[in-house]
Amino acid sequence: MNPIIRVEHLRKVYRVGKEKVVALNDVSLSILPGEVCCIVGASGSGKSTLLNQLAGLEKPTRGRVLIGRHEISAMTENELAAFRQAHLGFIFQSYNLLPNLTAAENVALPLMFKGVPRKQRQKMAVEQLKLMGLAKRAGHKPTEMSGGQQQRVGIARAFVTRPKVIFADEPTGNLDTKTTRQVLRSMLEMAKEHGITFVMVTHEKDLAGIADRVITIQDGNVLSDVVVGDAEKAANRAALFDSLEEQSPAEPVAAVPAGAEPEGTAANKTEKKRGV
Ligand SMILES: Nc1ncnc2c1ncn2[C@@H]1O[C@H](COP(=O)(O)OP(=O)(O)OP(=O)(O)O)[C@@H](O)[C@H]1O
Ligand SMILES: [Mg+2]
Repeated sequence: MNPIIRVEHLRKVYRVGKEKVVALNDVSLSILPGEVCCIVGASGSGKSTLLNQLAGLEKPTRGRVLIGRHEISAMTENELAAFRQAHLGFIFQSYNLLPNLTAAENVALPLMFKGVPRKQRQKMAVEQLKLMGLAKRAGHKPTEMSGGQQQRVGIARAFVTRPKVIFADEPTGNLDTKTTRQVLRSMLEMAKEHGITFVMVTHEKDLAGIADRVITIQDGNVLSDVVVGDAEKAANRAALFDSLEEQSPAEPVAAVPAGAEPEGTAANKTEKKRGV
């Protein structure tokens, strides 16, 4: 299988006054289509820098980033903006929601950029919020929601366009343990459901265990790049997610409230695939 993301000898040097900071030294890696990939490493090792170059949010100092056949490291700002809108999604640790828009309007925004008609994008935004357990919050502004709820809006906004790749930088960094697990599971299910390649930065080892591939960064270099075996992955996922089945959360994530949805929704199909 050809990789969907290819990174060749990537280097990123920041200048701070007269100082040079080598954030990425010489990084080469590949990620396959549909893979869930976690990028781990100590604080300051270069994880966010790497993710920003992969998503075309920053220009590398040297080296190449290819997504599919497109060399994004060689694109102009305008080309990059169009490419990101068409093919990529990004989830930020700090949510980055527009404060004056409601949850549904925030989620509908990338659909507007894609030219989806108003009524249809509203419907799609509300559907996506429902999958994130936020049906009742569609009309709320970000300041009227908890951190976990805002992050789920950010996740809905990234998934609603069904991009080829979603990048997430510590998406659960501000959430409590239970919400972290719920949010992680729903992202995983939606990525698998729609064949979306999902690349997530985390510094929590147990979260990284759910990935198909774990890339460890140290001092701006790839320290290791490991494909996780199926049995190990299943055990890691069970350790994280099984406790969620025992409780009934007040607002289920990626599980549709009883009677609210016909059979065959994204969440239901995923449950069936998992044989639950
Ligand atoms: N815009 C910038 N200007 C100057 N230096 C930067 C900039 N962004 C990052 N750095 C430096 O590059 C190195 C890598 O930073 P990066 O943010 O990628 O680390 P990280 O692995 O994401 O860390 P954390 O886990 O704390 O988020 C650090 O030494 C950091 O200080
Ligand atoms: Mg970071």
